[in-house]
Amino acid sequence: MDGKFLDNDIEKVVDADRAHVWHHLIQHAPWTGPDPKADPRIIVEGKGMRVWDQKGKEHLDAVSGGVWTVNVGYGREEIANAVRDQLIQLPYFAGSTGSIPGAMFSEKLISKMPGLSRVYFTNSGSEANEKAFKMVRQIAHKRYGGKKHKILYRERDYHGTTIGALSAGGQDERNAQYGPFAPGFVRVPHCLEYRAQWDLSGEEYGKRAADAIEEVILAEGPDTVGALCLEPVTAGGGVICPPEGYWPRVQEICRKYDILLHIDEVVCGVGRTGTHWFGYQHYGVEPDFVTMAKGVASGYAAIACCVTNERVFEMFSDDADDPMNYFRDISTFGGCTAGPAAALANMEIIEREGLLENTTRMGDYMLDQLHALMDKHEVIGDVRGKGLFLGAELVSDRTSKEPVAEKAVGAVVADCNAQGVIIGATNRSLPGFNNTLCYSPALIATKDDIDEIITATDNALTKVFG
Ligand SMILES: Cc1ncc(COP(=O)(O)O)c(C=O)c1O
Repeated sequence: MDGKFLDNDIEKVVDADRAHVWHHLIQHAPWTGPDPKADPRIIVEGKGMRVWDQKGKEHLDAVSGGVWTVNVGYGREEIANAVRDQLIQLPYFAGSTGSIPGAMFSEKLISKMPGLSRVYFTNSGSEANEKAFKMVRQIAHKRYGGKKHKILYRERDYHGTTIGALSAGGQDERNAQYGPFAPGFVRVPHCLEYRAQWDLSGEEYGKRAADAIEEVILAEGPDTVGALCLEPVTAGGGVICPPEGYWPRVQEICRKYDILLHIDEVVCGVGRTGTHWFGYQHYGVEPDFVTMAKGVASGYAAIACCVTNERVFEMFSDDADDPMNYFRDISTFGGCTAGPAAALANMEIIEREGLLENTTRMGDYMLDQLHALMDKHEVIGDVRGKGLFLGAELVSDRTSKEPVAEKAVGAVVADCNAQGVIIGATNRSLPGFNNTLCYSPALIATKDDIDEIITATDNALTKVFG
């Protein structure tokens, strides 16, 4: 820390926060009321992989800003300068017009996404997914008399926090108390082999899990199903890499029934899974929609995108005389120029520093280290992930696979935190299955960083489970 905050100043900040800020995704009880047990956490500063809290305590951030976001790490002056320069030149104009960073970033992004061609700017992952859902609905109205409007989504996947996106939400605990949801969203089974639903393994399991999607399509009527929305690797639902055989079959099914394939890359996109820019590119999938947010500008500005292929785009431009014949949608802050300016600088850093390669190398190393921890700790039932996007599922018994109590998972996270390492865990996701530790260090992570994360986890598991 550079000492900018004096003790009295920071106390004022903590008091103001306690009194007025409604934090995301956390209960306030410990720091509110007449006799608070703790202070709200304020993160004051970040540099590289590290952040400092209001007490000056240093933490190694193994979750890139808590939720898989700060992919190139903290303190990147290059991105800050690009944003500053752009804001002075032109901060905003509505997205019905173009902007220099919008055009230049789109060109760069599309150069990494063969088969796709159009970028629609929004400001959150939820909203990017809503855009794709709206496009599917409008295509149904324009082409199929409104009939082919259903959107399939998968158990355990998450696509955002709005009522529309929650309607496509496969995590029952996250959805609880927020219904009723929008009609026309239909669930398909998850594909996590560790929690097998069919007595098969490997590629056969993958094909069977995809066939389950076809069963849903047939039950609903293929002429009613417009799109299938999937995470390439499920994030908050437990870090799930689909088994071999899954994706080719999914693609085949979508083609067979003329169903648009929407891949939600909000977590996986822009390098997180290593080697490729996007998660779906590991599997040779050809999507019609790709949505992305978090790592697009590593959190230096709010930007999200709904990217489509030309086929989708052309479905909105086939009759210039029809005043209703375009995508009648706007995202006000989709016109902020800071987002694409930051996103362009972010991509340049990833390229120049070879971060896709580093992510693969460090991801493989971390996966090996997690497997070594599994050999040591009976409580780890499964380890999975891709690149620097990894999870360890904790079970009280390896045979029955009974999940450990959520409180114990919380204790592991808290102990790592006390050791100065911030890790994550699935939470408020699936009833009874909030038992997966989550890791997503920035793509700049070194072996030393990973060793530190693994050591903290090792110590915490020993402390909590013996
Ligand atoms: C896979 C996935 N899609 C969509 C979202 C929603 O993104 P946002 O919070 O930017 O609306 C998230 C957020 O965690 C996510 O994990």
